[in-house]
Amino acid sequence: MKAAETRILELRAELDLHNYRYHVLDEPSIPDVEYDRLFHELKALEAENPHLVTPDSPTQRVGSAALSAFTQVRHEIPMLSLGNAFEETDMHEFDRRVTEGLDLPNDGLFAEKVEYSCEPKLDGLAVSLLYQNGALVRGATRGDGTTGEDISVNVRTVRNIPLKLHGEGWPETLEVRGEVFMSKAGFDRLNESQLEVGGKTFANPRNAAAGSLRQLDSKITANRPLEFCCYGIGQVSHDISDTHIGNLKQLKAWGMPISRELKAAAGIEDCLKYYHDIGERRLSLPYEIDGVVFKVNSIAAQRELGFRAREPRWAIAHKFPAMEELTELLDVEFQVGRTGAVTPVARLKPVKVAGVTVANATLHNMDEVARLGLMIGDTVIIRRAGDVIPQVVQVVLERRPDNARKVEIPQTCPVCGSQVERTQLIKRSKGKETVSEGAVYRCVGRLACGAQLKQAIIHYVSRRAMDIEGLGDKTIEQLVDEKLIGSPADLYKLEYDQIIELEGFADISSKKLLKAIDDSKTPTLARFIYALGIPDVGEETAKVLARSLGSLDKVKVALPEVLTYLPDIGLEVAHEIHSFFEDDHNQNVIGALLGECKMQLQDTGDLGAEFAASATLGGMLDKLNIPSIGPGGAQKLADKFGTLEGVVKADWLDMRQTLPEKQAQSVRAFFDVPENAERALKIEQQLKDFGMHWQNEKKVVEGLPLTGQTWVLTGSLELMSRDVAKEKLESLGAKVSGSVSAKTHTVVAGPGAGSKLTKANELGLKVLDEEAFVAFLKQHDISVE
Ligand code: IVH
Repeated sequence: MKAAETRILELRAELDLHNYRYHVLDEPSIPDVEYDRLFHELKALEAENPHLVTPDSPTQRVGSAALSAFTQVRHEIPMLSLGNAFEETDMHEFDRRVTEGLDLPNDGLFAEKVEYSCEPKLDGLAVSLLYQNGALVRGATRGDGTTGEDISVNVRTVRNIPLKLHGEGWPETLEVRGEVFMSKAGFDRLNESQLEVGGKTFANPRNAAAGSLRQLDSKITANRPLEFCCYGIGQVSHDISDTHIGNLKQLKAWGMPISRELKAAAGIEDCLKYYHDIGERRLSLPYEIDGVVFKVNSIAAQRELGFRAREPRWAIAHKFPAMEELTELLDVEFQVGRTGAVTPVARLKPVKVAGVTVANATLHNMDEVARLGLMIGDTVIIRRAGDVIPQVVQVVLERRPDNARKVEIPQTCPVCGSQVERTQLIKRSKGKETVSEGAVYRCVGRLACGAQLKQAIIHYVSRRAMDIEGLGDKTIEQLVDEKLIGSPADLYKLEYDQIIELEGFADISSKKLLKAIDDSKTPTLARFIYALGIPDVGEETAKVLARSLGSLDKVKVALPEVLTYLPDIGLEVAHEIHSFFEDDHNQNVIGALLGECKMQLQDTGDLGAEFAASATLGGMLDKLNIPSIGPGGAQKLADKFGTLEGVVKADWLDMRQTLPEKQAQSVRAFFDVPENAERALKIEQQLKDFGMHWQNEKKVVEGLPLTGQTWVLTGSLELMSRDVAKEKLESLGAKVSGSVSAKTHTVVAGPGAGSKLTKANELGLKVLDEEAFVAFLKQHDISVE
């Protein structure tokens, strides 16, 4: 055998083994990149030696030329369906029929329990896989049970279907049966990418699996995240085991994926326990199931029981409540959120879906309404998936009434009457902005809109923002509705006499609320920035802004390009931040908070030491996004001209000495536009003002006392909340993480600490109880009230 051939065989065996470990045993032993390397080595070798390519090579899972139609396949042994049980009584009935059918004593002292196998009932489609001498020779759909379609090329693309069986001892002819399905994650990914390319989305994982498998173009199938799970055998040249579970375990050893949930149950009561246990875990399983399947485990007993019509007497499907239901779309209303987004919400004729009554469903945005082709009066399919909110997944067009009405976005805000505008999507790249229409409509009313004001205040007072206790959503609604507040600044003007009039308030609670409002006047800069509710600025971004720039004055004027020097702030978010502070209305509110309301922000005032002189001329030129200039070209310009002014004024011939003609031209053309030159000089000026400019003095980065340390908080703390503890640690420079590892510096463990504490002790990490932690904070001048 030649070297190439030997290596090809080696690689195939190795890839097969890794496939098996990954898909069947769930115990991958090499990282994905290593698998990819081996795979590519094999592909390259096969490309050089096409005569050595065999149909069972792992490289052959890519699909082949499209078919014009599927050919028909006759199932030697029909593929049957299962009887259904919905109630426990149906299950007891089934067990009684089995016990009687097998002539077992079924009551009193001598009652004999039947052993059943238990498996989830996967929601996909049934497939038959035929193996001859261990090689996959045919795949077929169930069809009507007697005749199906030959989907051999398609099944070969399903990653966890073995193209040849492992080990030895398999029957010469072996027909494996099971379900091809799509995981919930695979389904979400597929729909997302379909949306991106403007393709058709699928209503549920089952439809997605069916649509993907029954593709005449198997190259499409190859790109769909399909999986197989084996649940039985059809035609077989000799018996494998005397039990169903024995069969499946043997198939697993031959490389066939079977359910991880496969279990034996002693008697029907055990089956019911299994049903409830899986039922509880149903939503958190990675795939959709519509019930569980129970089968008499003994093959001899199965044969004795036989079939009735088209169903085995030895098996039953115990179904779960359906996750999808039909109902009527009564109306579409529009809700206004914190940032003014006007969202369509479906008002439905109430319907029970998997045990929960559903009367509303979000429709996300008008693009989604258009995609669904939704009209008021339509009959729609409602789906609950996981614990997420119910969704409208499909319109049943055949049931559309004559008087169905179009869904129209209101021209004015349903809450405040302001104009509703369609958002624009601005893409910035290489010095250019391209504007397109966004999917979201926004009410322009800002805080003049009651809905936005309510949400803004709810956010402002929330625990992680200004943490004003005693101001619940209902109270905020009342304050806004009665026009007692028109902006967060008005909170600080509330008086005792006004508060005590509010629903649910008395003397003590009113005083408490006033105190809580007053106490919130000295927030950290980070909390204050977060509380402002700038679109796309969460807690982490707020912390970055506060820690890096050190003062609100800098944050307020920072140019988008300057903001992108900060960690994890991209150009889009930078623009959001910049335009928020440019807005007159926002300026007035912030002015009132810091002026009349006398808020005092706790800030350092200083630029984070690591940002001093952190900008370079080359880096800055790169950020200007000059067409056809990358980081390399930008650096060349910096090296040659030394100053921004030098570059802006450089003459084309000088430029031509450093850069190729096209790039030199592009730089010249860019700075010939006065706005570009002005903007660049403005950015440079700001870098100077902030102390980030390359000419500034570089400060020695000393950092804070805990800089570079990772701390973990676990268990409950009595003197402060975990959030407060986290904030205090972060103010000392520590990173606070949720999990313990060898890299953890210290663990603070309160009462009730569990596995994290155990792990910390195992790793020999430093552990502090609350008392020691408080003492530690005091040493660093941090008080605990
Ligand atoms: S056994 C003779 N086991 O349910 C027994 N079926 O209504 C045949 N299914 O067409 C099926 N998971 O597509 C069996 N663990 C499981 C199953 C399962 C899903 C599907 C299968 C079949 C339908 C029967």
